[in-house]
Amino acid sequence: MKKKHSILIVEDDISLRNSIKNILKRREYEVSEANSVKTALLTLKKRVFDLILLDITLKDGSGMNVLKKISNDYKNRVIIISGTGTIDIAVEAIKMGAFAFLQKPAGRDVILETVKKNILLNQKLDDYQTLISELCDKSKFENIIFKSLQMKKIIQKAIKITDLDNTILISGETGTGKELLARAIHYTSKRKNDPLITINSASIPDTLAESELFGFEAGAFTDAISSFPGKFILAGNGTIFLDEISELSPLIQSKLLRVLESGEISPLKSAKTKKINARIITATNKNLETLVKKGLFRKDLYYRINQINIHIPPLRKRKTDIIPIAEHFLFISNITLSKRIERFDDEVKETLLQYSWPGNIRELKNVINELSLFVSGPEIKMKHLPYSILMQKKSFKKEEHLTTLKEIERNQIINVLKSTNFNIKKSAKILGISRPSIYKKIKEFDINKI
Ligand SMILES: Nc1ncnc2c1ncn2[C@@H]1O[C@H](COP(=O)(O)OP(=O)(O)OP(=O)(O)O)[C@@H](O)[C@H]1O
Ligand SMILES: [Mg+2]
Repeated sequence: MKKKHSILIVEDDISLRNSIKNILKRREYEVSEANSVKTALLTLKKRVFDLILLDITLKDGSGMNVLKKISNDYKNRVIIISGTGTIDIAVEAIKMGAFAFLQKPAGRDVILETVKKNILLNQKLDDYQTLISELCDKSKFENIIFKSLQMKKIIQKAIKITDLDNTILISGETGTGKELLARAIHYTSKRKNDPLITINSASIPDTLAESELFGFEAGAFTDAISSFPGKFILAGNGTIFLDEISELSPLIQSKLLRVLESGEISPLKSAKTKKINARIITATNKNLETLVKKGLFRKDLYYRINQINIHIPPLRKRKTDIIPIAEHFLFISNITLSKRIERFDDEVKETLLQYSWPGNIRELKNVINELSLFVSGPEIKMKHLPYSILMQKKSFKKEEHLTTLKEIERNQIINVLKSTNFNIKKSAKILGISRPSIYKKIKEFDINKI
């Protein structure tokens, strides 16, 4: 059976308490009641509730006393019930850790909606805390998010070949997840306890490449005071990930080919050869076959590094992955930024699907990270999307997306409230309006501590 969520109503007005209780009970919530600060604290000593609805003015004191006692425990999510005269206290309460406030008299739908949303968020928060470290772990296949059949096939293939020793060439446009895949292969393979050494082929100059990769003996050149085994040997039984392989110079291409053919290296000025045990994975965002045809990349090397080929298609060719990946990044942003953005508006989803994503998943990640910073409500709307994305939308009309003065006003009030940590007096002063006016605006614009 599904677990019933528990709610404690702390309210001294018996008719209001009963009416909230009845509304919630009909929706399968398990409801407890307290009519004073004292009974509330006694009840809370005994157990934890999924949600607490807390009135501010109680007959034996302020609800704030209850809040003070429990606000350190995030499990006790509190919604303040405030009367008209107590809105400033409600704002204070939010500063102290309450999550939302309901203003009396609140209708049935508002009560239910607020309760449902906060219970859901609380649950997610719990799951999130344990999941977040797992989710950010870039060494697992589970963290490669996809829904498309193309990606499913790729992942299935990759899992099958993790323990083979053959070379792998991963191709795909920039930001498609080549390195992520290489990491997942290494860390799932029998080689996972040995190092994964990444080498960016574009960043090593010719003069250093040979010694960096294959090592040298002491005295091999002026600065070679002691010997260095080279990255291929340092990787041991692990993996060498040669990124941007197309950028290797012809000289290094030929040296690498010799090493791959013989399975051995001979460090500079050393008479001895050493056997290589590391697996070689390479990646490229260029079309190597074309480069081979043009004579810009060695054909024999191409075949050596391409024993297993994995091509990751661009995001625009696997559109079903866009929303799940966007939701995944939103999930992470919510945690890292302590936000509670729940969804993308339908038109936003449509727009994300239509966009061409030239920077692929890296671009999608940056877009979601950036807009999460500025979204203050539970939903990502069209106005939050960067102009570059909006412009590609077929039906895009510039005028529709210009902001109204009201929106600017709302955003400015939010910014100031945030920067003063919801200090009403300071915020009013900065904004150049009176305290009653700022309260009026908070109400009018439905501003919550977000
Ligand atoms: N399917 C996916 N699910 C979740 N995150 C992903 C996925 N694919 C890529 N990423 C993330 O997107 C970013 C870019 O991925 P990665 O660095 O692996 O791309 P790349 O193909 O190596 O790009 P480049 O060619 O520019 O080096 C990384 O932060 C990575 O974790
Ligand atoms: Mg990369």
